[in-house]
Amino acid sequence: MRIVVLVSGTGSNLQAVIDAVRAGELDVEIAAVGADREGTYGIERSDEAGIETFVVNFNSFPTRAEWDAALADKVASYRPDVVVSSGFMRIVSAEFIARFGGRYLNTHPALLPAFPGAHGVRDALDYGVKVTGCTVHWADAGVDTGPIIAQEALAVADSEDEDSLHERIKVIERRLLIDVLRRLAAGEVPAPA
Ligand code: GRF
Repeated sequence: MRIVVLVSGTGSNLQAVIDAVRAGELDVEIAAVGADREGTYGIERSDEAGIETFVVNFNSFPTRAEWDAALADKVASYRPDVVVSSGFMRIVSAEFIARFGGRYLNTHPALLPAFPGAHGVRDALDYGVKVTGCTVHWADAGVDTGPIIAQEALAVADSEDEDSLHERIKVIERRLLIDVLRRLAAGEVPAPA
């Protein structure tokens, strides 16, 4: 199974996938890693790992539609079976997702449909929930919407801050993402509708 991973930031979840592949624990081929801006640590990590990388800079395009189409062309050139949004902080279009047969995977650091959006961890903390977690799902063109594949919950500790909670969530998020990719490669996950 060939995957293209999209990142916007540090790419620590991506690193966990790279490590699992290298350790022979995950039988997928990371065809390329792409970002929506220059200078991300996620791209640096991938370069260091000898993985092909690309940037389709959101700010270099006059319209979102042109950026989206350019990104789709670039991703398609790697002929992925699955596209993975791993901390990719941009919404892509329905046309983008359709081009990959709906096989656009996203991870989110909250128990969807609760707390979608860029600040899921902060929003859950601010609400005062006692349990939160992470979600791996087939993404559609909405904000963190689409069929859920896997979720795992975790109890919120007293007086926890956003950073410590996010770090604890990421530990399970990485494990869940790798597990879903393994099940996908084994043909055990139903295709998106
Ligand atoms: C993850 O928690 C992801 O769900 C969220 O941003 C984080 C990405 O972290 N959207 P990293 O870039 O993999 O370190």
